Amino acid sequence: MNQHADLIAKAKQTLRDNDLGGYTIPTKGLYPFQWNWDAGITALGWLSIDEARAWEEMDKLFEGQWDNGMVPHIVFHEPSDQYFPGPEQWGVNHTPPTTSISQPPVLATVARLLFERAKDRQLAADRLAVQLPKLVAYHLWWYRERDPQQSGLVASYHPWESGMDNSPAWDEALARVPEVTRSYQRRDLGHVDSSQRPLKKEYDRFIYLVDFFREQDFDSLKIYANSPYKMQDVGLNAILQRGSDDLIALAEQLGYDDGIAELKQGRDRMAKAFAGLWLGDKHSFVCRDLVADKLVPVTTTGGMLALYGGLASDQQAQEMATLIDSWLERCPYGLSSTHPDEPCFDAKRYWRGPTWLHINWMIAVGLQSYGYTELAGRVRQASLNIIEKTGYWEYYDPNDGSGYGGPNFSWTAAISLFWLLED
Ligand code: GLC
Repeated sequence: MNQHADLIAKAKQTLRDNDLGGYTIPTKGLYPFQWNWDAGITALGWLSIDEARAWEEMDKLFEGQWDNGMVPHIVFHEPSDQYFPGPEQWGVNHTPPTTSISQPPVLATVARLLFERAKDRQLAADRLAVQLPKLVAYHLWWYRERDPQQSGLVASYHPWESGMDNSPAWDEALARVPEVTRSYQRRDLGHVDSSQRPLKKEYDRFIYLVDFFREQDFDSLKIYANSPYKMQDVGLNAILQRGSDDLIALAEQLGYDDGIAELKQGRDRMAKAFAGLWLGDKHSFVCRDLVADKLVPVTTTGGMLALYGGLASDQQAQEMATLIDSWLERCPYGLSSTHPDEPCFDAKRYWRGPTWLHINWMIAVGLQSYGYTELAGRVRQASLNIIEKTGYWEYYDPNDGSGYGGPNFSWTAAISLFWLLED
């Protein structure tokens, strides 16, 4: 019997318990809708349970896709009063209701993994034929609407769009955003201890931006011109690059042409521009704050995703591998979202320190593709240490593996099934 039989059963049960019929909520209470990159990672978990259900997770998310190609960060399939800000705050006219921003685009990479690993070849071919044009439209949206000057790097308009909500990489840029003046009631603090969640000063600005997008009629170009917050997020760009490479590979396998020439242009522009995010002193890629026009000198796991995007030179990869090696010495329970030497490191608070398993997976994939097999194995082992100790939490203390945030968390269970517990 597999030594992890109990963990496998528990992970499968977690996905089933969070399944609301075609889509999986991240966790009960805290997050009652379908999130974009959660859906992608969660589909990888469904693959070993039910292939049709894995494809369905993606289909269901695409119900929220906008006519311009954007795949929103949340699709509000069913109403819930457990979460703030809900659909009425975002003010988007779409059925089903959605938010007005996106999230790191893991979906294309997930589609490729589902397609290449599926046992039901006919189902995979049928589902991919439907999803491929949607994925291409999504990636072209990023290049067109979020890089209007064709710099090669796309801009994130909101910390939530980067998926790393309160990363210290946004601190300086977010401080420039006005605080919202209307009153509102957060719901997250009713579910999770406030020591593990973003601060009020951050939420006041998160909500200001939600209102701002509505006031700008969700027009990407107007927002690009007028927004007080615009970030070339290193992690998001690297994930986009990997996704575009995967889409191009899929299109070749299927003989699909539509939009692929433009996709290649976007991909090639990024391959050149990404070098501008390298910060030699930190041995890492970092974000660029587009409003202040400067690099943000904070080392995060987002920077390490350059390996996953295939965007580091061999020399840079070598320096990053050395950094990751010593980082793991400090964090036996996985690479912390923020490097422990950063003054703003906080082991409990969300994206300011805790370990997130899906990010560690991407870094391991990146290390492996650059030939750092042993180091990739150590990242994997550190993640395995966590779930063996604590089970499937939203995020973890990188020092002792304590589980924080929401319990019975879908993407944690899913990536464990896909990566840590596979035969
Ligand atoms: C939080 C995370 C984000 C995730 C969402 C749902 O907002 O920061 O990355 O997608 O929760 O799990």
